[in-house]
Amino acid sequence: MSASYSRIEEISEFGDERGFLAVLENNRVLPFEINRVFYIYKTLPGVRRGFHAHYKTRQALVCVSGSCKVYLDNSIRKTDILLDSPTKILILEPNDWHEMYDFSTDCVLLVLASHLYDSEDYIRDYDRFLEVYGGE
Ligand code: TYD
Repeated sequence: MSASYSRIEEISEFGDERGFLAVLENNRVLPFEINRVFYIYKTLPGVRRGFHAHYKTRQALVCVSGSCKVYLDNSIRKTDILLDSPTKILILEPNDWHEMYDFSTDCVLLVLASHLYDSEDYIRDYDRFLEVYGGE
């Protein structure tokens, strides 16, 4: 599989005396077309979620409220990213093993995905992840 890299992007925002509005559009900041949206909220203290990579699904993660951290591992590089702004979006490529943690009590983590839900697209076993993506 070819290597691709997850990254943080800034979302355009429109602010005036009424407040702020941020926009995401297919194939603009997002490098894919959205086929699925889900959000994670009311996460309990100390919880860590995720623990998987994907074969094909690309995702974009943004905390529309509160904050959380995302641990990324592309088998070579391991990084921790803080999502703490509704204008900060993590473009998450399929080849990154990811874990979300340190959710603030007000966190609403919005996830936009390139594909419909398919449990077969998940790599939940770390050794399998290394077989598929190790050495890229
Ligand atoms: P899970 O994969 O455990 O969440 P996380 O990656 O945050 O640890 O998903 C929790 C449940 O939700 C699980 O039963 C599968 C289901 N689910 C869907 O039905 N559709 C979806 O798009 C997602 C992301 C999860």
